[in-house]
Amino acid sequence: MTDLRAFVDRSRDRILDELKTFLRIPSVSTTPAHNADCRRAAEWLGDHLGKLGCAKVAYLGSETHPVVWAEGPAVPGRPTVLVYGHYDVQPPDPLNEWASPPFEPTVRNGDLFARGATDDKGQVYSIVKAFEGVNGGGRPPVNVRFLIEGQEESGSVVLFDLLKREPERVQADAVLVSDMPYYAPGWPSVETGLRGLCYAEITVRTAKSDLHSGLYGGVAPNAHEALVHLLARLKTAEGKIHLPGLYSAVKDPGKAVRAGWRKLPFNEKAYLKREVGAKALTGLKGYTPLERTWMLPTFEIHGIMGGFTGEGAKTVIPAAATAKVSLRLVPNQKTKTVARQLTAACRKLAPKHADVSVKFLHGADPVVVDITAPPFALIDQAFREVEGRGVVPTRSGGSIPIVPALGRKGAPVVLAGIGLPDDRLHAPNEKINLDQFWKGVRVFGRFFDLMGER
Ligand code: BES
Ligand code: MN
Ligand code: MN
Repeated sequence: MTDLRAFVDRSRDRILDELKTFLRIPSVSTTPAHNADCRRAAEWLGDHLGKLGCAKVAYLGSETHPVVWAEGPAVPGRPTVLVYGHYDVQPPDPLNEWASPPFEPTVRNGDLFARGATDDKGQVYSIVKAFEGVNGGGRPPVNVRFLIEGQEESGSVVLFDLLKREPERVQADAVLVSDMPYYAPGWPSVETGLRGLCYAEITVRTAKSDLHSGLYGGVAPNAHEALVHLLARLKTAEGKIHLPGLYSAVKDPGKAVRAGWRKLPFNEKAYLKREVGAKALTGLKGYTPLERTWMLPTFEIHGIMGGFTGEGAKTVIPAAATAKVSLRLVPNQKTKTVARQLTAACRKLAPKHADVSVKFLHGADPVVVDITAPPFALIDQAFREVEGRGVVPTRSGGSIPIVPALGRKGAPVVLAGIGLPDDRLHAPNEKINLDQFWKGVRVFGRFFDLMGER
């Protein structure tokens, strides 16, 4: 049995430096300008895994956003753990809200601040270091395989294609994913479900070209006005989403599960103030905040483009306007179906004089995970030993597109992250708490051990 505490204590500074080097690479997968950086992050990670003794290090499926594959030393007759994560990150803007630059990792008060610190480079790295430290150095008593992709934040196309060609890559006794937070500080969790996503652009056109708002104001249709009307009809102020058929696919997780959720510690006032930072929570009446984020679909407007937004004033009637929107989907809903429902709803609800088109950008199917298989008891034990508390079953509002495919060969997918709820993923001043990171190294090291004892 390994206790990684000593490994962590003597390697702390070196590991922190390595993680900072990884975080300095701006591997933003949603922007083509960062293609070379994505490749660099992949190679940095692959090189590192090679140095730790991994074989068959490969960059698969793309020049710019390859999937990193690496295999630890073969341990014949022992189980296989597949580690999934992603090295790509979200764009860092708005830049001026960062207290230190997003790609200059900085420690303040026990937190390491950088884009990707918690989502997901830092969490991936805690597993890599667990692999390094376990069993006296890079020799876990299990077969470890790394599958770390570079397009999670933009739909995972490369990895989906790879797994279509080579489905046996997900043959494993457990898949370990650390890409999510604890339920609360001191409360590790294992996710029993993730929401899905359907991301689209809605474009409305009302005239051949922009028009003078004096000459034509009063008679000409306005594209922004048409778009705003449409958006207000798609989701009403009460939080009800008007896509035909959307709610009929929503499955109630059942009384017992919902009762379990109500027993979790939840302080709505603190949540509102500290995490959300708003005056009030919104959403459908009759559901708790956890139910609203875990078992109901959402409709969000991410941005509206078009018309005049430059400095000063321009009197114009815009002829076209576009909104970036997405729906979060819950178990039993399908991305493709919801994309069709969105198109149908836009056609029906847009003003008659407007031409509407809906362009689907990317998506993720929702997933439910049955947590009765043996690896779940082992991750629970690992957390119990290191954190002093086992995992609570929760769901999450977030999405990871590839998760349904990771379980396709029957491997239990263990969704157990080491982030904290206030890590600000995708937002300015993203961080990982360093205590969490070191606990992660020890927990995942223990998990490798325990899997090997099976
Ligand atoms: N790690 C997150 C997903 C996540 C966050 C799961 C918190 C559980 C709890 C992941 O990197 C992410 O941001 N996914 C995107 C997916 C999308 C771009 C297809 C998301 O949820 O917006
Ligand atoms: Mn992530
Ligand atoms: Mn993310």
